[in-house]
Amino acid sequence: MSINIAVLASGRGSNLEAILEAIAQGKLDAVVKLVLVNVPGAGALDIATKYGVATAVIPNAGMTRKEHEEKVIAELKKHELDFIVLAGYMRVLSSHLLSNFKDSRGFFKVINIHPSLLPAFPGVRGYEEAFEYGVKVAGVTVHLVDEKVDHGPILAQAAFDRQPDDTLESFKARGLKIEHEIYPQVLQAIAKGGVSFFQRHAASDVTADRETARR
Ligand code: GRF
Repeated sequence: MSINIAVLASGRGSNLEAILEAIAQGKLDAVVKLVLVNVPGAGALDIATKYGVATAVIPNAGMTRKEHEEKVIAELKKHELDFIVLAGYMRVLSSHLLSNFKDSRGFFKVINIHPSLLPAFPGVRGYEEAFEYGVKVAGVTVHLVDEKVDHGPILAQAAFDRQPDDTLESFKARGLKIEHEIYPQVLQAIAKGGVSFFQRHAASDVTADRETARR
């Protein structure tokens, strides 16, 4: 199966590029229907254009969260989307927005990548805080989004060792390289129905269906 996704970004868009490149190389069965950014001039826009993907720029400056989200929801709803993929989107999504993108099991169809081994170091400075703390093992997390910040069912994690001679830059670069591998891989696993989280819930759906049928 191929999945239709929208990617939401605010910055340079290197994860977006990794996703688009994986698709171009036939490693990811997905179609990026839309790249939506909240920051005019974000690098993600150039990357989307390079790969011929439709873009939408919806700046949040001068708008309430609700006003901004209504525009975002309207734009996203123009497309038949299986998942919304956050890739450095620096806005917290309200439960109102999330409730517009719910699957039949009640999970939000929104996925995020975070630069730490959650639940450690949530927030916008994942790599910086892990590095400053002096962790020996760092990592990245791909998770389903829920109403809390950097929280929700974990789909995958990958760890990396801090090297004795690491600078913050080399530490971040190693993490980012892993992000670029893991995000397309998780999306591909989802497209193939192969992430254990989804299998578990698909299995409980089947059980529920059987029980309903027995009654
Ligand atoms: C990544 O480190 C991602 O984990 C975090 O924001 C950063 C986005 O980088 N959520 P990019 O825009 O994909 O290059």
